[in-house]
Amino acid sequence: MQSEAVPRALHAGIIMDGNGRWATQRGLPRLAGHHRGVEAIRRTAEACPDLGIGTLTLYAFSADNWQRPAEEVGGLMRLLRSYLRNETQRLARTGTRLSVVGRRDRLPDGIPQAIAAAEAATAAGSRLHLRICVDYSARDAIIAAAQRLQSQEDLTRESFGALVAGAMHGSPVDVDLLIRTGGEQRLSDFMLWEAAYAELHFTERMWPDFGPDDLAAAMAEFARRERRFGGLKAPAVPAAA
Ligand code: IPE
Ligand code: IPE
Ligand code: MG
Repeated sequence: MQSEAVPRALHAGIIMDGNGRWATQRGLPRLAGHHRGVEAIRRTAEACPDLGIGTLTLYAFSADNWQRPAEEVGGLMRLLRSYLRNETQRLARTGTRLSVVGRRDRLPDGIPQAIAAAEAATAAGSRLHLRICVDYSARDAIIAAAQRLQSQEDLTRESFGALVAGAMHGSPVDVDLLIRTGGEQRLSDFMLWEAAYAELHFTERMWPDFGPDDLAAAMAEFARRERRFGGLKAPAVPAAA
């Protein structure tokens, strides 16, 4: 059940790293790790509402990941296609609104249409806003926002941030908790604007092994952090009204 002390509107981001190493350590092809990663997405997303997370942004494929071998990129795109085909109904049933963030013009034929269909079919979801970043680069998102500017009048952190983040459907732009699995401690061009004051959580757990217990542990640590936003002491999780 939802704990009273936890606000519902938290925004968590996850850099889902370590799929390839998970597989290699087991003598499996890297794609096997990506397949297992999809199951981790499902169980992690479904744990969010009860932990007070209303928005979950997942880094699935970066603009720089096109550099990987064609076989791996092709496998990842097939996985995205099957995720959209197989998960949409379940997302709708669990009250999850899906948004796919990033460029769509370089995705293989049929995928942009499948994304639009999945987004439309889940648009009524209000328990969780699940944002999946595909062909995403935070720096490119900032450039694109700058290019969309009509004039610099009244430009604020809020108005420019809304351009950077894209359609949020009422979700907060700012990320509260940013998790990276797989042991690396870097951002790899993920939500550079939105994570300005995010609490960072790095874990050695490889993404295919990640699940609700790891998310709960990250949230427990988050709740103990003292967020100051440049000011003075304030609790990470404000007391319930
Ligand atoms: C993250 O896992 C998923 C993608 C980047 C597509 P990796 O594929 O980067 O796995 P490692 O870091 O090589 O283990
Ligand atoms: C970041 O992981 C991108 C995703 C998790 C989708 P990478 O594995 O691509 O990042 P680097 O190359 O280790 O920085
Ligand atoms: Mg990696």
